[in-house]
Amino acid sequence: MQSDAILDEALRAIEVASNEDELQQLRVRYLGRKSPLTALLRGLGQLPKEERAPAGAAVNRAKQSVEQALDERAAALRSEKESAIADTEWFDLSLPPPPRLQGHRHPITILEGELDHLFRGMGYRVVEGPWVEDEFHNFDGLNIPESHPARDSWDTFWLSDGNVLRTHTSPVQIRAMRRFGAPLRAIFPGRVFRNEAVDATHEAVFNQLEGLVIDKHITPGHLFHSINAILSEILNEDVTTRFRPGFFPFTEPSFECDILRDGSWMELCGMGMVHPHVLRAGGIDPEEYTGFAFGLGIDRLALMRWGIDDIRWMNSGDLRFLEQF
Ligand code: DAH
Repeated sequence: MQSDAILDEALRAIEVASNEDELQQLRVRYLGRKSPLTALLRGLGQLPKEERAPAGAAVNRAKQSVEQALDERAAALRSEKESAIADTEWFDLSLPPPPRLQGHRHPITILEGELDHLFRGMGYRVVEGPWVEDEFHNFDGLNIPESHPARDSWDTFWLSDGNVLRTHTSPVQIRAMRRFGAPLRAIFPGRVFRNEAVDATHEAVFNQLEGLVIDKHITPGHLFHSINAILSEILNEDVTTRFRPGFFPFTEPSFECDILRDGSWMELCGMGMVHPHVLRAGGIDPEEYTGFAFGLGIDRLALMRWGIDDIRWMNSGDLRFLEQF
């Protein structure tokens, strides 16, 4: 039978087809309009009547077989292709992962975060001021007039427009008093700038945390107690402090606070009762309100907290240092 011969030939060709394109060509050749099987179907009419039905059935069976063989070969080719991918594009799940590079918070940022949390818990608000300050806020408003020798205590970076890079966070006292009035409880953390020689204990760019409390009947007792509580909390121990008389133009009386570390006293911060001139510059009546203020060096506190020996590490950007935090 002709259809069997055609079928044999088709099956052999399909079996050796090596890709989808070849299969498609075979599909056209054996099942298309011009295929020999189709020609056989068309010729059925010329056969004697009793042969037509069996011959037609044979051609249809052959067509179905070709179709099935094409589908099977296509499936086989697909799975061959997939297992080839599995052979080449694999990775070893048992390998240890590449090291994850993780950033570190700077010790100053860590400490500022803790101070922020601590003071907020005591009802202080946190206020930031500008790094570029005018002469009034950095000096005059703080009772440091131009002729006053105390101005020399702050080695100032003057800008060509007459402004300064703030030499301390104290100017934010004036800004906060004017903005929020009394009573007031606030801290002003931030960066300050001094035009001075850098060494292991002095940086030209460092960080302070200023505190200001204004209310009726505020006394130095409130100040000393607050400072002790704050230092104990931040350094995680019951600190021993001493308060010495000091001088700052913006406080009267003024004090210096020392802290006992490994048997010796270290100077830690300046503080005092806010000077009436300063209250007035902030728009607050010194007859009605009193207050205390303090200025804490955050870098110095960080050196103590982590036993760091040189303040210059802070701005070094050195990963060997930073990766320890
Ligand atoms: N502003 C001072 C400084 O930078 C620190 C300071 C001293 C701040 C006494 C205060 C204070 O608020 O009362 O050296």
